Amino acid sequence: MSKLIPLQQRGIQASQLVLGCMRLGGDWDARNPITAEHYNEGRAALEAALEIGINMFDHADIYTRGKAERVFGQLLKESPSLRESIILQSKCGIRMAEEGEPARFDFSEEHILRSVDGTLERLGTEYIDILLLHRPDPLVDPEEVASAISKLKASGKVRHFGVSNMSQGQIRLLAAYSDEPFIVNQLEMSLSKTSFVDTGVTVNQEASRESVFPEGTMEYCRLENIQLQSWGPLAQGLFSGRSLDGQSEAVVKTAKLVADYAERLNTTPEAIVLAWLMMHPAGIQPVIGTINPARILACKDAPSIRLTREDWAWLYNASRGK
Ligand SMILES: NC(=O)c1ccc[n+]([C@@H]2O[C@H](COP(=O)([O-])OP(=O)(O)OC[C@H]3O[C@@H](n4cnc5c(N)ncnc54)[C@H](OP(=O)(O)O)[C@@H]3O)[C@@H](O)[C@H]2O)c1
Repeated sequence: MSKLIPLQQRGIQASQLVLGCMRLGGDWDARNPITAEHYNEGRAALEAALEIGINMFDHADIYTRGKAERVFGQLLKESPSLRESIILQSKCGIRMAEEGEPARFDFSEEHILRSVDGTLERLGTEYIDILLLHRPDPLVDPEEVASAISKLKASGKVRHFGVSNMSQGQIRLLAAYSDEPFIVNQLEMSLSKTSFVDTGVTVNQEASRESVFPEGTMEYCRLENIQLQSWGPLAQGLFSGRSLDGQSEAVVKTAKLVADYAERLNTTPEAIVLAWLMMHPAGIQPVIGTINPARILACKDAPSIRLTREDWAWLYNASRGK
């Protein structure tokens, strides 16, 4: 197996760890302004990420109602040379409820184009490297999506395209109409959300009914060299220091095992949790969502840790509780 992750195989020099920017800019209430503290928080998170070699950043038009992209845009303004050395990814297609408007998914051409213009304005950049379609729109017209994509590509506003939370069938439908390939699929995968593994190992068993991960998606993405990215890769701290009060026996046992491995390998629990995910041969990119600089720094060793097949299985079995 090549050691390069799929994006690198396509010539995109992305770090395997990605910083998720969903928590920049404070809360999700658009009426609350961005404060100096939010900019300081963002600055510290960016510095910590760069320090451990992260060069890719994940956004969405909706994160903290646009404030996350705005905070990041300010940071780019303060260090203009940074733009060319990082990979910026954003997403569109989820619309939050507004006064008199329902929450919905929207892959209409008009919405996609308008969303990208908003993202570019907030980030203060002329292009985004990768645009993801955030979550499947049940009313999707793949020809409309293809038309939006070709306009965004031709104008130079977006360099590459991908999807998020999609099954192989949903990607294939979009891909059948688009001249541009979809090169990323971002889904929830972690040591606590193991269904990306469970779906495969329970094939032809009753237990497969419990798995929510769409069958064949891992395999399709690997065959098509689509970069799998995991959201929620730190399991929101479940195995790396968050309170275990009220948690199941499996969670408590897994957290203990993670701590033991961290001690034995002279590293942090965060690095073990991520290394477990990164051992998957698909070359998954964990999109870490912490903006706490100490926790970002605690992820540093993840790409260099080598777990054995046995270590991997102990952790998986503990988390599944089976
Ligand atoms: N495509 C999608 O549909 C989708 C959905 C959700 C998220 N995302 C992306 O994925 C990124 C990561 O998602 P995520 O934030 O859910 O994943 P995560 O990295 O598993 O969790 C990060 C969260 O856990 C907290 N945390 C981590 N360790 C902790 C500890 N020891 N004690 C207490 N809290 C701890 C962090 O708080 P601190 O900041 O205080 O450390 C933060 O709130 C997001 O930023 C976003 O870019 C995508």
